[in-house]
Order: sequence, then C-alpha cells, then structure tokens
Amino acid sequence: AEIVGEKQAELTLPPDVPPPIDRDNATKLIVNMEVVEKEMRLADGVTYTMWTFGGSVPGKFIRAREGDMIEFHLQNHPDNKLPHNIDLHAVNGPGGGAESTFTAPGRETVFTFRALNPGLYVYHCATAPVGMHIANGMYGLILIEPAEGLSEVDKEYYVMQSEFYTEGDYGERGLQPFDMEQAIEENPEYVVFNGAVGSMMNDKAITSEQGDNVRLFVGNGGPNLTSSFHVIGEILDKVHYEGGDRVQTNVQTTSIPAGGAAMVEFETEVPGNYILVDHAIFRAFNKGALATLAVSGEEDENVFTGQQLDRVYQPEGGAIQELPQEKRTIPTASTIEERIEFGRETYMAVCQACHMADGSGIEGAFPPVANSDYLNENPDRGISAIVHGLSGEITVNGETYNGVMPQQNLTNEEVANVITYILNSFDNEGGEVTPEDVERIRQ
Ligand code: HEM
Ligand code: CU
Repeated sequence: AEIVGEKQAELTLPPDVPPPIDRDNATKLIVNMEVVEKEMRLADGVTYTMWTFGGSVPGKFIRAREGDMIEFHLQNHPDNKLPHNIDLHAVNGPGGGAESTFTAPGRETVFTFRALNPGLYVYHCATAPVGMHIANGMYGLILIEPAEGLSEVDKEYYVMQSEFYTEGDYGERGLQPFDMEQAIEENPEYVVFNGAVGSMMNDKAITSEQGDNVRLFVGNGGPNLTSSFHVIGEILDKVHYEGGDRVQTNVQTTSIPAGGAAMVEFETEVPGNYILVDHAIFRAFNKGALATLAVSGEEDENVFTGQQLDRVYQPEGGAIQELPQEKRTIPTASTIEERIEFGRETYMAVCQACHMADGSGIEGAFPPVANSDYLNENPDRGISAIVHGLSGEITVNGETYNGVMPQQNLTNEEVANVITYILNSFDNEGGEVTPEDVERIRQ
C-alpha cells in the first residue's frame, strides 16, 4: 500500500485507548516514546521504583494501521540511571527493534518499521538483565488495526496484567526493592492489572452502560506467569485469542501468555459490578489481580433477576427438625485474657479467610479489622456483622466497601470472644464484649 502523508501518533495512558483509526490509507506515523524511571504506587502504603514507557505501567498504548510506516523515537530521560531499548512484537526485523533502539540516559534513537501484520502486540524493554527490566514495569501494547478497521464498539479499554517481585511480603509498607531470587523462582508477591493493586477499583473502575459493547485490549507483560483472564459475571462474546485474527466465541476464561495479548468483546447486558480477575484465583484475592467494570443502567429480569428467595430450608420430611450434630465444646472464658485467647482461635478458624491473619483485609474487597475506626467507634457493629451479616456501603479508615459479609453461625460466647480478641489486637482500642452484649444485639 502507498504511504500517504505523515502523522504524529496519539498515545494514551492506561486504561484509555486512542480513538479508532479513521484513515483508509497507510501513512508515515511518528511515535515518540519517553522512558521515565520513577517511584510509583504499587499498593496502599507500598511504592516501587518503576521503569516506564511514557510514565505509566503498562506503558502508553500505541494505535496504528496495517501498512503504516512507523518511525519510532525512543527517548531516555536524562535523569534516568540506565540504558533501555524496545522490542515491539509488531515488528518484522532483528530483536523487534531492540538493537536499533539501545539508548543511554539523555539520548534518543530512531528506527522505522512497516506494520505488515495486523493484531494486538506486546512491546517491552529488552536490555539486560531483560527479566529485570520487564519486572520493573517496561511493557505495553501496540495495536495494528487491520486495513478494514475493527468492528465498532461503544467502549474500549486497555488492561495489562503483570507481576511484581518485592523483597517485602505482599502489603509490607514502604519502598520495596526488586527481589531477583523470587523472580527466578517465578514467585511474585504481587500480580496486578495496570501496574498497581486497585488501579481500576472504586472511583477508578472502568465503566460502561447497559447494552454497551465493550472491547478490552488485554495484555500480559509477565515476566513469568500466564494469565487465566476472566470477567466475573460476563461471558466473552468474542475473543481474538493471542491477539490474532481468529475469533473464538462464547468464552468463559482465556489464556494470555506472558508476552501475549487478546482482544475480548462482550455486551454488558445488565447493570452491576463485574470483576476482572486472573482466575488462578489466589492471584486475584491474595496478590492483587482484581479490577472492576462498573455497568450502569436498568435491570433486565429477562436476563438476570437477582436473588428471588432466601428462606429456611428443611430437608424432606420437615418433621425431623433436629439433625444429630457434632457438638463443639466452647470453653467458657472466666477472664478477659481467656476471652482473648479463645477469640483468637475463632478468628483464625473463621474470620481470617477474608480479613486476613493480621486483620489487614483485602483492598477493595474485605475491610480491615486492624485499627478499624468503624469497629472502634462502636464494637456493637462488629457483633452485628457476625450475628446478622453485613452488606451495603460502609467506610472503614477512609476506604469504602460495598461487599457482603455472611452471618456467622457462632454462639454468644464465641462472638464475645472473637470481638474481644480483635479489640485487643491489631492496634485496636481495647475493650471487652460479653455474651450478654451479644444477646442484646441478637434480639
Ligand atoms: C465487615 C468482623 C468474617 C467479609 C466486617 C466488619 C467487622 C467484621 C468488624 C466491619 C468493618 C470493619 O471493621 O472492618 C468479622 C469477624 C469475622 C468475620 C469477627 C469472623 C467471625 C468474615 C468472613 C467474610 C467477611 C468469613 C468473607 C466471607 C466481610 C465483608 C465486610 C465485613 C465483605 C464488609 C461488608 C460491607 O461492605 O458492607 N467484618 N468478619 N467477614 N466482613 Fe467480616
Ligand atoms: Cu529497560
């Protein structure tokens, strides 16, 4: 195809995507990408020195058209400490451009490539040690639209999964250095979307309206893990798997290898929150791989009703009301020290699955019971959460939660113990709850 004119590429920060290409010709497309090394948020209270393409992790999104002549400028900011380069998987040529773009701090390099193959491609730094440059945030996506364009949709977003290997454990505060040994063992502390825990949650959730067709450009920067990409509550109507031309329809979970990508499309039929996860599920709930797509609009009971019933269930022959049950022996505490000790056992058996052993909860999903202003203000709230369950929006230490805590089948004695344990642990303000207090809340 003939090259017509010259254009400056518009690059976007995640989760945004540049608008569809409206040219029906190939052009000379100039891409300016600046490498920036800077300390950025990885999780609440946790920072990391990220090496970035364009100042964000993942790097800026590049959108071009099949046939374009892409003149690529790689600029390494003078304040940076290291040389970098770029390997774009959209390139046909040695190293995907890596050799041609090896760039020291304070320098700029240029090379040109022809966008011969349409598709969604990963780009990444390939400077030694390559694994470390990728682990520190140096990856992003480049879309080469086919000449005929992509189908029209209502919303497009840019989502990229990756891992972080830190010296401190998940959630350990402060500036966390890279841990090479853990990277070699492929044992990350963090698996995240768009560079940080909670990058697309709460007020930063991506959005659509009921009836919208949504296209996600999903990449996986790795450096090590394959993603089992899944959207909770949605079926992926179309998946351009591996970022290629082939389309698979009606997909529940799609594999996205490290250094690979997929375009997924679906209609958001009914409103609600849809959670993007890596369905290797401990990564989602324990390492950060969670994001929210918030869909607004009208309920449609022809598609989804929500809960229609919740009532007592008695197995057939309802006359048999009492099933023989194994009786747990609940020790009766005679001192507050005993109450705390027994409460700890209940906490570890029942509560820590969601609120974590150290009471820190899980960002965006389970509130902390550690240093909880919500609980300390009125411990009855904790009792009530256990005996009646808790749902609807609450604010704990300035963060809002809108989850569901199921009621817990515990005796008054056990509830008194566990709340007393929490009040006297995890930096809370102390106090004692008695079985009588629990009975009062139960009424
Ligand atoms: C909220 C305690 C078990 C999920 C809360 C709160 C407390 C609490 C005190 C109020 C907010 C705060 O201070 O952080 C406990 C205790 C448990 C227990 C003592 C064990 C006996 C669980 C379990 C789950 C869970 C097993 C998960 C299945 C939640 C959720 C909320 C919450 C989602 C927030 C509800 C909302 O957003 O309205 N819990 N919890 N909890 N808990 Fe638990
Ligand atoms: Cu690099």
